Amino acid sequence: MVTTDPSLRSATRRRIILFPTPFQGHINPMLQLANILHTHGFQITIIHAKFNAPNPSNHPHFSFKPINDGFAEIADQLATNQDATFFLKYLNKSCMDPFRDCLAGLLAEPGQDPVACLITDAAFYFAQAVADELKLPRMALRTSNLGCVLAYDALPFNSKPACFYLTKQDTDYEASVPEFPLLKFKDIVKIATNPQGMGEFVTNMLTQMRASSGIIWNTFKELEEHDLETVTQVFPVPSFTLGPFHEYFPATSSSLIEQDRTILSWLDKQAPKSVVYVSFGSVARITESEFQEVAHGLSNIGFPFLWVVRPGTVAGSEWLESLPENFVEGMGERGRIVKWSPQQEVLAHPATGCFWTHNGWNSTLESICEGVPMICSPCFVDQPINARYASDVWKIGVFLEDGFERTGIEMAIKRVMMDKEGEEIRERISCLKEKVKLSLDEGGSSFQSLKSLVDYISSL
Ligand code: UDX
Repeated sequence: MVTTDPSLRSATRRRIILFPTPFQGHINPMLQLANILHTHGFQITIIHAKFNAPNPSNHPHFSFKPINDGFAEIADQLATNQDATFFLKYLNKSCMDPFRDCLAGLLAEPGQDPVACLITDAAFYFAQAVADELKLPRMALRTSNLGCVLAYDALPFNSKPACFYLTKQDTDYEASVPEFPLLKFKDIVKIATNPQGMGEFVTNMLTQMRASSGIIWNTFKELEEHDLETVTQVFPVPSFTLGPFHEYFPATSSSLIEQDRTILSWLDKQAPKSVVYVSFGSVARITESEFQEVAHGLSNIGFPFLWVVRPGTVAGSEWLESLPENFVEGMGERGRIVKWSPQQEVLAHPATGCFWTHNGWNSTLESICEGVPMICSPCFVDQPINARYASDVWKIGVFLEDGFERTGIEMAIKRVMMDKEGEEIRERISCLKEKVKLSLDEGGSSFQSLKSLVDYISSL
């Protein structure tokens, strides 16, 4: 029986069902959000794909419901296909029936508290129709920043697909894109390798975000104040900016790859702010020749470095086979290469001087929270947008404009680690770090937004 007295409903509807997309950069914020809501008294059930399944033993206080995602049929294409929307669109189709069955089963379970709402990754746009059918409010978690979604909304994926195929030889390659002038044409060719496919995905995602009961963003107001105003106009549903989520709960427990913690004792031996930390996240791939340029750049600089080379990062290689000859011997104690790091602890370590990153949104936020200046090497989808915000709007990083090329790499590292420009960048990002702390403190913007979210979910 549905309780009509709102105060009674809020007292009983303390159960939330969450559904992340099965990629590290999306699983981390969803499980962090689940933990945040759990500490506010909600029971948590996670429906998840079998591909990249989270480890339930790391979250004994949640219940987990795996569904058949059919992803095994296309998983081998991850190594060769750079079109991220191909995988997301596939999952939106393949998960629909198993998800509906699972959700309907959960709602019909006898003796359970009623469900307050469903929270899915915004990229799972199909879930809105399922939630509507089952008469359950759905909120969308958008794991990127606000600016990224505004850029997606503005870019002419469908109307001018040809501009996503420009090359260095085209005169407009370095010019600003009129629809979103922060971005250059050379940025948007990375955002979408298949503009029509991206356009279809973006239209579906944004339409269903507008149809949702609310949007939760992993960002904080002070970072994107101006864009927040626009977002509330573009999405006329409640928006909650309570991030950065990892400040409440670290990503360690949702890591899909084992983190190599031996490097922390190596970091302890390095001078303060001397180490260049290099990581390109959980899905980006680079070519063999780009990998070699990174290696040459790192061996030519005098600084110690910690380089995460995730197996599969280099197209066509298992791991380190394509390093230049004698690279490992040459780096000696000055360098460390690992398969996966405890990134948040590395960024928080006093020895870390800068972060050479692909600008995945989690990595960008983690760098801001530790006040570590960035060198920006975006690969695809939202990363070029995050990188432009970091370098051109917030001015907390240096954009590696010409890609992976050893002279440019050495110059960028020098600019950040040795030049006055680097000092100024460090001051600005330290200032943002302070703003994060204030926003999370009692009375701060993220603190208040979390309180509003808890009240809102309880009222649904
Ligand atoms: C993907 C997309 O590429 C990105 O554009 C989108 O914003 C999120 O999803 P991903 O490559 O996973 O991003 O990068 P990111 O968002 O930075 O997330 C990576 C997570 O893995 C971070 O939380 C980071 O702390 C963690 N990580 C990374 C580790 O724990 N160890 C590592 O060695 C590297």
